[in-house]
Amino acid sequence: MTNFIIMPGPLTGATTVPADKSITHRALLFGAIADGVSRVRNPLRSGDTNATLGVVRALGVTVRETDSGELLVHGRGLNGLQEPETVLDCVNSGTTVRLLIGLLAGQDFFSVLAGSPQLRKRPMGRVTEPLRRMGAHIHGRERGRLLPLALSGASLHGVDYELPVPSAQVKTALLLAGLYADGLTVVVEPGPARDHTERMLTSMGAPIVRKGKYITSERPSASLTPLDITVPGDFSSAAFLLAAGALAAGSHLTIQRVGVNPTRVGLLEALMAMGADIQLDGWGEMAGEPTGDLHVRPAELHGVTVQGDQIVTMIDELPVFAVVATQARGDTIVRDAAELRVKETDRIATTVAELRKLGADIEELPDGFIVHGPTTLHGARVSSHGDHRLAMALTVAGLIAEGATIVEDAACASDSFPRFEEIMLRLGAKLDITP
Ligand code: S3P
Repeated sequence: MTNFIIMPGPLTGATTVPADKSITHRALLFGAIADGVSRVRNPLRSGDTNATLGVVRALGVTVRETDSGELLVHGRGLNGLQEPETVLDCVNSGTTVRLLIGLLAGQDFFSVLAGSPQLRKRPMGRVTEPLRRMGAHIHGRERGRLLPLALSGASLHGVDYELPVPSAQVKTALLLAGLYADGLTVVVEPGPARDHTERMLTSMGAPIVRKGKYITSERPSASLTPLDITVPGDFSSAAFLLAAGALAAGSHLTIQRVGVNPTRVGLLEALMAMGADIQLDGWGEMAGEPTGDLHVRPAELHGVTVQGDQIVTMIDELPVFAVVATQARGDTIVRDAAELRVKETDRIATTVAELRKLGADIEELPDGFIVHGPTTLHGARVSSHGDHRLAMALTVAGLIAEGATIVEDAACASDSFPRFEEIMLRLGAKLDITP
């Protein structure tokens, strides 16, 4: 089991972060149904996106890797995917499996989707239930609510469906199924879940239309155009460096070419509201997404309340936000975030339990947490529980805790952020890795 041992200290310098995970998953899956070869420059090669790559190949799609690390996805057209000969293993990746269920529901073949013990615990009913209303044939444990799931060919029809909670994965699954359905599929979104799917599919010529909180999808009248994109840096990975730079005395960091899609940067807004010293410049555009360079230094922070629509825009960043909150004066309150309980771990329970071991004054709520700050953290032995974002959030905590912090089971960081430890070391972190 790989552990990280971290001593307190600043991070300084300039870096990029690995490419966006959400955009890479989509480029592989949407490229698979385009008519021709999609060129994906700077894809994320991580545990989760490699799961999508494996699945796409198992569906008969050739994906070549160039010497410069680009992926060339030889799309087979909307109806060219092949029946997989074996089970499609989505490993730990919730995005892989949920997007795939939507894509495969309308295919004229049989497929079985499976995953790791961690993924087998995560709810799939949020995708399978609306897809069944569209006519999908899906079987699985707990009446199709848990992996493994078996899907067989069905003809789909459009539905009007209001998402019970904002979710980009569920939205994407339904919009993908809508491309194979008779009539119109209407997804009503209660909050601003990440919109990479709408941006990317529209750029490929798919009939995806948004009007306010209504998004529609229908069978395309022409084939989908292949992609030619460079994937920007992942804001969710930059978030760990942003938090470290805002907290560790003496830090001064620049994080370059990061995707700053407004549906992703709730953490940035929360940190600014707390008084963080962050500048954003170097604006650009990559893969139809806004990008920028982030500059951060430590500053005096004060507590804030984060709730409602802001939650979905920073859902993956809440564990590291809790670390930041331990250093802010006053109470930081996170509400409306019950979704955290069904991520790779119950991220409310695991974040609260592990930060307490470091001395944080944090209270668990059914749908979030309250942090009373500031507190001096002290190094201790903590665990990632096999959750990549917790591993990295606790590493950031180690940069400000007195003495040594040992993060157990930290190799999972590479599910989303390969070479996290290398980048930390290059920026000056005092970090040892034990095999
Ligand atoms: C993702 C959507 C979010 C997010 C996940 C990636 C995506 O999940 O937490 O890390 O790429 O669509 P939900 O759709 O379950 O909110």
